[in-house]
Amino acid sequence: MQASKIERIPAAGSRAKPTVIAIGGAKGGIGKSLIAANLAVYLASQNWRTVAVDLDLGAANLHLYLGVWSLQHRINDYLDKKFERLEQIAVETRFGPRLIGGGSSRLGAANLPFARKLKLMRAIQTLDADVVVVDLGGDTAYNVLDFYLQADHGIVMTSCDPASYLDAYTFVKMALHRRLTRLFGPENRQTADHKDLELLSLLNQFVGPDAMANGDKGSKITDLLDAVRETVPAGLPLVSRAIERFQPHLLVNMATDTDSAGELVQRFRKVARRMLSIDVPSLDHIPTATEIARSTRDLIPEAARNPDGALVQHLARIVNQLQPDLNPIPLVRSAAGR
Ligand SMILES: Nc1ncnc2c1ncn2[C@@H]1O[C@H](COP(=O)(O)OP(=O)(O)O)[C@@H](O)[C@H]1O
Ligand SMILES: [Mg+2]
Repeated sequence: MQASKIERIPAAGSRAKPTVIAIGGAKGGIGKSLIAANLAVYLASQNWRTVAVDLDLGAANLHLYLGVWSLQHRINDYLDKKFERLEQIAVETRFGPRLIGGGSSRLGAANLPFARKLKLMRAIQTLDADVVVVDLGGDTAYNVLDFYLQADHGIVMTSCDPASYLDAYTFVKMALHRRLTRLFGPENRQTADHKDLELLSLLNQFVGPDAMANGDKGSKITDLLDAVRETVPAGLPLVSRAIERFQPHLLVNMATDTDSAGELVQRFRKVARRMLSIDVPSLDHIPTATEIARSTRDLIPEAARNPDGALVQHLARIVNQLQPDLNPIPLVRSAAGR
């Protein structure tokens, strides 16, 4: 454990930044918050200093999944400058991770100054922690997508339900579009100072907000790549790289059975490849389980109540798929060997 932690610390003098895992995807009731909470509990149980952050704009309830009934302070308080440092609104939970509780509706407000959003992004990336798990909810507001894009690992959740599948696909598509239109934004330090206006205008035309307003016309990524190749060929590597490096991971929760989850994943992958020119690998499916539903009612995360149970085995495999060095103990090896 210790050895693995020491390996993650970069050159002397600079402090290790936390690994940020963001969870977004389909809207309402598919287990994003439940999985975010249990993932944080699992990671804390592996001795990683873990913080769970609730950035859901609408239904901020991550605290309940971590056994916290009421919150004194919320992200809104930080955005409203009631606190200087984000750490000041973190609270301990009984189950391992610290929690920065929800109430982040200000993030959805169109008039939130961009600088304040950037400050929150940087505050999350420099929290004094090893891992930060962010529950983004299912909103596709630009601010939410920006947090998703900033994370080291992005998880997109869906259930097997077709409406949820469509929602999750929309989330991925909007995030990719946002990533491309923000290539020259201030959060991209290397490119922000060297704007190629012709390329920027092409990106806006194909994947910017106006392209969305005109329906799906022109939003196929291969069309954008063709247009860039033809009009601004020098910009092609930049755009291609941004697409290649966009790597959402699909997570099917409440899987009714392995076959339907597998079929859904294949369909998602195929459509994403054809329409968005990206590969979307999938993580271990999580089935519907009565003990998971019960844990919600009792306000005790299943990963804490049953540390050797099925949910923890799934979470261990998921962590292993995302970043194996976050799984320092041989749990995964025994799970894989079953
Ligand atoms: N794998 C699962 N098995 C059983 N119940 C689940 C599972 N995942 C989520 N739930 C239940 O679904 C409900 C909604 O979960 P929640 O995490 O609040 O969804 P979201 O954050 O996506 O809106 C909760 O009551 C939760 O206990
Ligand atoms: Mg939620």
